[in-house]
Amino acid sequence: MSELLLGIESSCDETAAAVVRGGRTILSSVVHSQASLHAAHGGVVPEIAGRSHLEQILPVIDAALAQAGVDLDAIEAVAVTSRPGLIGSLLVGVSAAKTLAWARGIPLVGVHHIEAHVYAATMEQEDDRRSGEDYPCLALVVSGGHSALYRATSEIRIEFLGGTLDDAAGEAFDKVAHLLGLPYPGGPAVSKLAESGNPRAIRFPRYRSDDGAPAFSFSGIKTAVLYHVRGQDALAPTPAPESIPDRADVAASFEAAVVDVLVEESLRAAEREGLPTVLVAGGVACNRRLRQVMRSRAEERGIRVRFPSPAYCTDNAAMIAGLGFHLLRAGRTANLELDASPR
Ligand code: KG4
Ligand code: ZN
Repeated sequence: MSELLLGIESSCDETAAAVVRGGRTILSSVVHSQASLHAAHGGVVPEIAGRSHLEQILPVIDAALAQAGVDLDAIEAVAVTSRPGLIGSLLVGVSAAKTLAWARGIPLVGVHHIEAHVYAATMEQEDDRRSGEDYPCLALVVSGGHSALYRATSEIRIEFLGGTLDDAAGEAFDKVAHLLGLPYPGGPAVSKLAESGNPRAIRFPRYRSDDGAPAFSFSGIKTAVLYHVRGQDALAPTPAPESIPDRADVAASFEAAVVDVLVEESLRAAEREGLPTVLVAGGVACNRRLRQVMRSRAEERGIRVRFPSPAYCTDNAAMIAGLGFHLLRAGRTANLELDASPR
């Protein structure tokens, strides 16, 4: 049984590699972020991302092996994100993983990026028995590209329940940050500015689903922020960020609205599905207000909540190697025809 896996992740704007033993013990986790390359554009530019992955992939894999103190000879299987993501970015990681698996004659595992984010919330548990107690659960995945709820009955059995009707939560943070003159990625910057603002200063609208299936929507909040800073005249120019008098209050009230939507919709879905635990994952799971509000409102309703440490909320390859171990154990290996898929 293969124990020592190399994980590779290149689905969006992080080039990452990690060495993980037994799906749980992280020997190394190296992440090269492209954020500074995309900052000037206010979001990820696919062509720039693909080229940067190509430059970074081999140095990042070497660094992960070196930090783990293992030779390539010791690696028993390679796990790689094969979907979903930017196709030109995914292909870089998938090609590297296939080459390594072929050259070393070791198994190859294709990993679903979202399922790996969910796994990240339980991989820091000390053993399989403890993490087994987390299932069945409701999983909320909130990142720059996704905001969705899943029912997970094990590490590798995850079913989609509902997602955003428009923007992803992280995308809304990034767009509001841009409006407020804050750098990309917007989540950490908005959250920092929000610390000095009043979350009750402005009442931005909260979307609630009503037809039984859970769903999110953030475009209404985003538009309300735009009208708040620009006024009701749709033809007026967007003001310079420095001239917005209540920027911190806007940041705090926006963050409060997004968090309220995420928490309420998730807890309602958990209750409706009869699930005792909520796992939260993805870049937005770093958000301090989300962590606090989710914990306290879940506790009131007798629901357990688990978040990964912040380093394993954002994109990383430890979660890929970690989930790869469970897929390998279930016999779900890929062959050299493994394809990258944007969906
Ligand atoms: O999971 P991730 O690294 O990449 C994707 O798969 O999208 O998530 C990145 C997203 C960005 O939109 C970023 O603004 C958001 O996560 N984010 C945050 C925080 N830290 C990162 N959003 C709110 N609060 C934060 N502290
Ligand atoms: Zn992600």
